[in-house]
Amino acid sequence: MQSKTQFIRDIKDKDPISTSFLVKFSAVATGKNGKPYMNLILMDRSGELEARIWDEVDRYAGQVVRDAFVHVDGRCQVYQGRRQVVINKISILREDEVTLKEYLAEGTLDADALYDQLMGFVDSMKDPYYKALAESVLRDDADIVDRVKRAPAAKTVHHAYKTGLLEHVLSITQILDGLAKHYGKYVDRDLLFLGGFFHDIGKLWELNYDRVTDYTTEGKLIGHLVMGVELVDRKIRELESQPGRLPGVFPEDKKLLVKHVILAHHGILEYGSPKRPKCIEALLVHMVDDMDSKVNAIRCFTEADQTPGRWTALNRQYERFFWKPDWAMGGEAPAT
Ligand SMILES: [Fe+2]
Ligand SMILES: [Fe+2]
Repeated sequence: MQSKTQFIRDIKDKDPISTSFLVKFSAVATGKNGKPYMNLILMDRSGELEARIWDEVDRYAGQVVRDAFVHVDGRCQVYQGRRQVVINKISILREDEVTLKEYLAEGTLDADALYDQLMGFVDSMKDPYYKALAESVLRDDADIVDRVKRAPAAKTVHHAYKTGLLEHVLSITQILDGLAKHYGKYVDRDLLFLGGFFHDIGKLWELNYDRVTDYTTEGKLIGHLVMGVELVDRKIRELESQPGRLPGVFPEDKKLLVKHVILAHHGILEYGSPKRPKCIEALLVHMVDDMDSKVNAIRCFTEADQTPGRWTALNRQYERFFWKPDWAMGGEAPAT
């Protein structure tokens, strides 16, 4: 078992590299001279780093694949504003030679504490049907509880780290709680909460997050909106079959509204929602989801940026440069 000594966050231009990484992406490309080279993205818990292998590509192509642990010797250089490792030597490590948690991106928040806060919102619900549904998913299903504490919210872009989904769901629920107070009788607080809890619950199975996060076959073929609706259907059937769990048969309108809030949370048809929001709760869940994912995406991008000075490199998703406030400057002295 070897412990990592060098982490991606600390690697700078011209640094010699001699440490291990998890391979996030691997592809063979052809250079201008017609020679093949390997294009890699390496990761550890502190970030990601591009890398190139220029020599002996045939030897490495079948081995240096996604999810492989590798030991790399090489040097970092900054190319077009981005760090890149030129690899001189690379070898594959066995799983028992590494400590997995050194390689998987971690959130900075404690999963159990986030979960307890979320359950506080579940406990505060009033509607007996909605509350029983929330409890059956988030409290009573041990597999779901285990997944909720681990899952990232996405493969890339926003909350793309361990427990990122729970952080996102709790953040949204806190905002929705404020909106419920603000709009008073015009919104159903419990329905808003179910939207916060369940809008992305299908991601627990849409993504595989044991190693490098990727889509599962079910995720690719069905997707988290429909998977969320399927879960709600199944849990309501289970509740109805358990004597005493509900005051009566789950009301049809309530069932349809929960499903609608999940299906409409991407807002428009082009973003994968089969229905646009058709009640205020669905509209608010969509808008808060959009806001929370964008704030986190920009925060993570800005924090990880290595460009000297007050502006980030170009963000391709948002097609703009972002201003770096003091919290994003690391140890760097503020530029005038
Ligand atoms: Fe979503
Ligand atoms: Fe979301």
